[in-house]
Amino acid sequence: MRKIGFHGPPSCTWVPVAVRHSDPHPSNQPLTHALSGANPETVTLNVPDRLIRADQLAESAQIRVRVMDGPISRQDGRVTRTIEDLFPPFGVTITCGPLSMRPLRESDAPGFEDAVRTHGIYDDGRVMPFLTPWADAGDRIGVNLLQRLLWSNWATFSPDQWQLPFRVEFEGRFVGVQDVFTRTPFLATRTLETGSWLLRPEQGRGTGTLMRQAVCAFAFDDLGAERMASGAFLGNESSLGVSRKVGYVPNGVHRLPQPDGEGWREELQLLLTPDAFVRPSDPVVCTGVDAFRRFIGLDAESDAPS
Ligand SMILES: CC(C)(COP(=O)(O)OP(=O)(O)OC[C@H]1O[C@@H](n2cnc3c(N)ncnc32)[C@H](O)[C@@H]1OP(=O)(O)O)[C@@H](O)C(=O)NCCC(=O)NCCS
Repeated sequence: MRKIGFHGPPSCTWVPVAVRHSDPHPSNQPLTHALSGANPETVTLNVPDRLIRADQLAESAQIRVRVMDGPISRQDGRVTRTIEDLFPPFGVTITCGPLSMRPLRESDAPGFEDAVRTHGIYDDGRVMPFLTPWADAGDRIGVNLLQRLLWSNWATFSPDQWQLPFRVEFEGRFVGVQDVFTRTPFLATRTLETGSWLLRPEQGRGTGTLMRQAVCAFAFDDLGAERMASGAFLGNESSLGVSRKVGYVPNGVHRLPQPDGEGWREELQLLLTPDAFVRPSDPVVCTGVDAFRRFIGLDAESDAPS
């Protein structure tokens, strides 16, 4: 979090905040709940870096933020902690050149469903990349996202078992999801696994490679991972192509049972170690790392959930 001070007219209840209109980060809501100033002349915003940058504050003063003037928490009259403070996985962001990633949130569900229904993810003629054709679920896509990926995962998030699905933007537009998760307790094995997909029009342009590189850099550099695992069904050339380009080596073939219990499919396992990692040309910048490390039990003064 970066603290930004700015000045507003004396005794006003509305203070102009300078934010570029074209800024891709969408809503004013994080600003209103992040507002923590007591004196309307000098207000301090606690703003996550990814939402607003200091240089943007120098631009036009078009957006107005209400100064909260009544006591809204019993303790000191101010709410000073954000949802990202309470639940640090929400505070992790990764950027790499034109790519930016932040954890999927429940408010993403409607846009997510719309994009998947409009563009699709897989083609009939190609190898089905998933065990279940979840992108064909129509009206259920959004609620499945909420119940199966987000709510269930947040409720059980612990150092032994966690999952962080990132919403990926390329030059500000939603393009897909990059997931990173534990298959085994990370503190013991230092191994993480990834999964990813892109909307159909976004495929085949190098974005899948870039987002895998970015999440692997986060895992190796910020979390101290020693191995990254991945898997793709035999014949899924685009996924295997990403793994090859990023430096993974084959690590055996598994049989996965079909969900209907009728037979199995073969998945190629892949493994990446730091020495073999092919990094992206742009630097990978992550925020929210310290709090996230503590939350998953990596640092001594851990506030990990049990
Ligand atoms: C898998 C996926 C994320 C890869 O992302 P992408 O942006 O399409 O892949 P990239 O453009 O970065 O390509 C990576 C490499 O694979 C190759 N590749 C991509 N699509 C290919 C295809 N259909 N056939 C053969 N090779 C392909 C590329 O040529 C590239 O190698 P190169 O640069 O040496 O030519 C994306 O294609 C996707 O979402 N597919 C559907 C869902 C899916 O399969 N998810 C993974 C489940 S394991």
